[in-house]
Amino acid sequence: MKKLITLLICSLLISSSFAKLPTFPVDPYGITVGGLSSGAFFAVQMHFAFSKTIKGAAITAGGPYWCAQGNLGYAMSNCMSSPQLIKNDVLNKKAEELAKQGAIDPLVNLSGSRAYIYSGTLDDVVKPDVVKSLQKQYESFGVQTTTVYNVPSQHAYITKNFGNKCNFKGTPYINNCNYDMAYDSLSVLYDDLFPAVDPIASNLIEFDQAPYIGSNYSMNSKGYVYVPTACRQNTDICKLYVQFHGCLQTTQDIGTDYVTKLGLNGVAEANNIIVLYPQAKASKSNPMNPNGCWDWFAYVDNFANTTKYVTKSGAQMAAVWKMVTDLVGYDPETVNIDKLDMDSI
Ligand SMILES: *[C@@H]1O[C@H](CO)[C@@H](O)[C@H](O)[C@H]1NC(C)=O
Ligand SMILES: *[C@@H]1O[C@H](CO)[C@@H](O)[C@H](O)[C@H]1NC(C)=O
Ligand SMILES: *[C@@H]1O[C@H](CO)[C@@H](O)[C@H](O)[C@H]1NC(C)=O
Repeated sequence: MKKLITLLICSLLISSSFAKLPTFPVDPYGITVGGLSSGAFFAVQMHFAFSKTIKGAAITAGGPYWCAQGNLGYAMSNCMSSPQLIKNDVLNKKAEELAKQGAIDPLVNLSGSRAYIYSGTLDDVVKPDVVKSLQKQYESFGVQTTTVYNVPSQHAYITKNFGNKCNFKGTPYINNCNYDMAYDSLSVLYDDLFPAVDPIASNLIEFDQAPYIGSNYSMNSKGYVYVPTACRQNTDICKLYVQFHGCLQTTQDIGTDYVTKLGLNGVAEANNIIVLYPQAKASKSNPMNPNGCWDWFAYVDNFANTTKYVTKSGAQMAAVWKMVTDLVGYDPETVNIDKLDMDSI
């Protein structure tokens, strides 16, 4: 009997440490995204594809929508080292075509949304002019941009007190530049934020990504979500921010640094913002994604279709969107959110 109970408790513990993504009351007008590097390109894709719902993006070292045009060669040249090759008119035309087909939301929905855009002066991985092309593209669609282009940082997420020296290039790609990117970027996306408090370790929840992914999505079996206490206790309607990691920043690469050390969780705790951290993973073949990047050049869907990855039906795009709809308890793209009764959720 004792054995049985121990077994039961153990299996309960195992299943609860790897739980289904829970649902919380979320303000449907408070959903935003962000990321670093491949995760920044991916956040731009999410913003364009789901612009009816996603009202802001915090972009660190990322470039324009459709920059890589489904092509790894373009990704590495145009969108990283040789930004003079970027042609925004070509990229914008593709976005218009996809919107017309309904593969992404109408581009007019981008208008009035917000973007925080960062590039370090010393970034030689995704060069500053790549990021400036994104700024131009965003502004051509009426997005309100706030830019930070004057911090002497290499390619990294920037903090005020954790990580490598500001000009260092290397793992975990988190640099201490005495600059609070977490607070600064979320302050662009949301009005009147309180200063950060200490995050609460037990509010970082691991969840099971398996229900969202196929075997060849290059996504991890486990994801993370930081849920502030008031959101866990259902005492407030919360906001939702989705943060994507860069290449070489999966949990296999850097443990939990990305989901605990950026400074986002403290800002989130103080302001009742849920932070979803979806996780990609490396895969050596089928698909070929050896560095655990998010799909911004058609590595998942490329045999079937080199365009799908930037649309709502892209494998990783749809997977992350399903996580969002499970977290908020409905699909804000399809329900009439103006008529939504939050008490009924
Ligand atoms: C998005 O754009 C469409 C087409 O113009 C419009 O009908 C709709 O109201 C917009 N939705 C939002 C949430 O802005
Ligand atoms: C991924 O797997 C699905 C089914 O499991 C298959 O239909 C699809 O072709 C695969 N994609 C690639 C790129 O191999
Ligand atoms: C690929 O997917 C895109 C986006 O859904 C679509 O516009 C296009 O027609 C597809 N191409 C093929 C060859 O299926």
